[in-house]
Amino acid sequence: MVRALSIFAQGSLIAALVLQTAQAISFKQAPFSAQTLYPNVPVDLYVMSKCPDAVRCEDVFGRVLDKVSSIINLNVHYIGDEKDGQLVCKHGEAECRGNKMQLCAKALYRWHQIPSVWYRFIQCQNEEYQEIGTNESLEYCALIKDLSYKRLKDCADGQYGTRLLNQSFTESKKKGISTSCTIEINQKVRCIHDSTWKECDGGHEVEDFVRDICAAYKILSPRSVLPKDCPQEQA
Ligand SMILES: *[C@@H]1O[C@H](CO)[C@@H](O)[C@H](O)[C@H]1NC(C)=O
Ligand SMILES: *[C@@H]1O[C@H](CO)[C@@H](O)[C@H](O)[C@H]1NC(C)=O
Repeated sequence: MVRALSIFAQGSLIAALVLQTAQAISFKQAPFSAQTLYPNVPVDLYVMSKCPDAVRCEDVFGRVLDKVSSIINLNVHYIGDEKDGQLVCKHGEAECRGNKMQLCAKALYRWHQIPSVWYRFIQCQNEEYQEIGTNESLEYCALIKDLSYKRLKDCADGQYGTRLLNQSFTESKKKGISTSCTIEINQKVRCIHDSTWKECDGGHEVEDFVRDICAAYKILSPRSVLPKDCPQEQA
């Protein structure tokens, strides 16, 4: 085994290829993280992009991501309807367009070298959430996060954007979720922010969500090492 490894080390080209292949495999196996190959904890936010409650939730989960990004499989889903063959959003057409921009950021840059750059793009848009859906918001955040304005715009204004939004609405509906923002951890509703925090047994601070995510990860992946920001084991 050691010998085989040293042969690989000599041929750095081969080693690079092997590494690339390994990464390609682990990337396909979401929700398995590239670092651990153990299943990650699903964390799902159900939102409307121009809703202040969404901004609040996404801010909290941005800070959760700072601590335990390696063990969560974070997803954002959108809430809306279909009327007369058109997708409609509670906060108007601009919201549907904003939802599509955010879905496109994830679809196009899911494996971008900065982990979760799509989520950081959403956080950037939230800095001026009333502007979400405008060209300016897209252009500014694409620039800040080093993404292509043109690719994102073409996606959001094209058929792919519509398809992504339609799929996302359908997923939220299937779950029976219609309140922005609803938070699911490990596929169970954990908390809602609707003007105020609601149904948040177990708390709604960053540390509370981190603790529950770490506990869920220990059950899903009992043999793996917890990130350093998980609460320390009680002796
Ligand atoms: C959304 O998807 C459903 C099911 O695939 C389809 O019937 C419907 O026409 C789509 N709506 C839009 C607006 O694309
Ligand atoms: C966005 O910019 C394009 C030109 O690139 C323009 O045609 C379009 O009307 C703008 N859309 C909005 C919503 O401002």
